[in-house]
Amino acid sequence: MIQKDATYVVMGLLDSDSIAYAIGKAIEKWGGKVIFTVQNERMKKIFFDRGSKMTDAEKARLDIRFCDVTVECDVCNFFKTVGPIAGVVHSIAFANPKTCLGEEFHTDAIEDIKLGFHISCISLATVARHAWPHMKDGGSIVALTFESRVAFPYYNWMGVNKAALEATVRALARRHGKDLIRVNAVSSGPVLTKAAKSIPHFAFLSRHWKKVSPLPWDPTGEKEQVANAAAFLLGPYSQKITGQVIHVDGGASIAGGEMMPHERPHAYVVEDEEEPVAPPAKPAA
Ligand SMILES: NC(=O)c1ccc[n+]([C@@H]2O[C@H](COP(=O)([O-])OP(=O)(O)OC[C@H]3O[C@@H](n4cnc5c(N)ncnc54)[C@H](O)[C@@H]3O)[C@@H](O)[C@H]2O)c1
Repeated sequence: MIQKDATYVVMGLLDSDSIAYAIGKAIEKWGGKVIFTVQNERMKKIFFDRGSKMTDAEKARLDIRFCDVTVECDVCNFFKTVGPIAGVVHSIAFANPKTCLGEEFHTDAIEDIKLGFHISCISLATVARHAWPHMKDGGSIVALTFESRVAFPYYNWMGVNKAALEATVRALARRHGKDLIRVNAVSSGPVLTKAAKSIPHFAFLSRHWKKVSPLPWDPTGEKEQVANAAAFLLGPYSQKITGQVIHVDGGASIAGGEMMPHERPHAYVVEDEEEPVAPPAKPAA
């Protein structure tokens, strides 16, 4: 699954609910070593030190370093500290929920759109550029995405970022094949994390997933499955897979419409509709 005793960098830890944390645990379970990155010390203090459900002993055991992916020298300096590595996970995204997510797609907050694009997409290329010299024997880079072939309500500019991230995965896969470095993405269904909570009407997405997914999908419980797929892509069992988006979404991405009651897993209940959303105000005449 994972190269035993090899070191993997997992970027994007916020707290123990983060997908990054679940991926780190999966890597350790299969015998790898993990270096986590947190955006900065302030974020660590607020969310990880105070906010997470972990014991102090668990926290102390983790190798945590800092790296803001929008700061070129941060990324460069961080990778200078890691030594030889077998892989990198990019589990990072941001979009201002007030301007880039929500009921209205249109916005004049261009700087917010640019920042979201920098953090959620460009940074994957920045990370790859500084990481690949440390993967002398080849390696694997894995990014986290969300279904971007269709447009979801409320997800707006993050959907745009994810489509660009997936294109970046393909471009990087092409660029780094000669270095025996593979680049792939895991497309996760909705799972409950801090980033997810900042998506307006995240509950709508979760309920929608339960209705369209052939397999049961529990947004509070599927992180481990997402993490296992990332570990598979990091390790030697996926040696000929590159440039791909692997969907770990209960199959929602292949379903043409909602699952009919007779198609749903036994005893699998989907709650009724999303709480009503106010209709948009009529444009002024
Ligand atoms: N939660 C979901 O439903 C879901 C579904 C599909 C894909 N994803 C993706 O998974 C990845 C991880 O998100 P998560 O849900 O675990 O949430 P999370 O909030 O735990 O992780 C997001 C991370 O991005 C980091 N980040 C933001 N700006 C940064 C910067 N400038 N430099 C460094 N780090 C920065 C945050 O500090 C945080 O650690 C994201 O790419 C997200 O889009 C999440």
